[in-house]
Amino acid sequence: MNFHILTLFPDMVRDGLHTSILGRAVENGHIRMNVVNIRDYTLDKHKKVDDYPYGGGAGMLMQAQPIYDAYISVCDSIQKKPRTVYVTPQGRVFNQSMAAEFAKEDDLVILCGHYEGVDERVLEEIVTDYVSIGDYVLTGGELPAMVMVDAISRMVPGVLSNEDSGVTESFYDNLLEYPQYSRPEVWHDKKVPEVLLSGHHKKIEEWRLEQSMKRTMERRPDLYEKYLANKPQV
Ligand code: ADE
Repeated sequence: MNFHILTLFPDMVRDGLHTSILGRAVENGHIRMNVVNIRDYTLDKHKKVDDYPYGGGAGMLMQAQPIYDAYISVCDSIQKKPRTVYVTPQGRVFNQSMAAEFAKEDDLVILCGHYEGVDERVLEEIVTDYVSIGDYVLTGGELPAMVMVDAISRMVPGVLSNEDSGVTESFYDNLLEYPQYSRPEVWHDKKVPEVLLSGHHKKIEEWRLEQSMKRTMERRPDLYEKYLANKPQV
């Protein structure tokens, strides 16, 4: 999968996305990060990319031309118009099923806004999806873009070494993950639950499902409602 991230802060995005699991996924060729510096596309002789908003108001707006030309250069390089996300608090709130949906794309453009926003006209021409990462306001779209790339990448086949772990963790079927334990068997007088030492796979599975349900009910009653509504019938 190819991510094309349009930003005024390419170093921030590159540094954030080339470590650990994502770094390895890039090296192995499962994902590609094409970080595009919007400023490289401005036709302004002072390399300016922003200006005052018509009608007045606080702050500066990112102008349409550099963003559009950066976007067109991506389209030209892949010979198509890919799905294009603008990360904004005004978007649909990102979740696991959206991550799984986006992971089916071969190419995904993510536009990171800055300052007080972006000239509406370029958004109208290029954006297919408006996505927020939560109901709070950040200073720019880079962190949201990185959050999305991380969550989407781990749904791309091959990125996680154990292919299953992408679906068995929290939010699959609207349940949070069960508690996990590693060595030693006793730590601070707390013993690992007996069933996990039993080697009885069916019992372990049942215990984990129970724990997932209990945890979801306690911590995320909103998700638990969804789980009950969509629970597979046996
Ligand atoms: N840009 C600023 N705040 C944001 C948010 N919460 N989600 C997505 N993009 C943003």
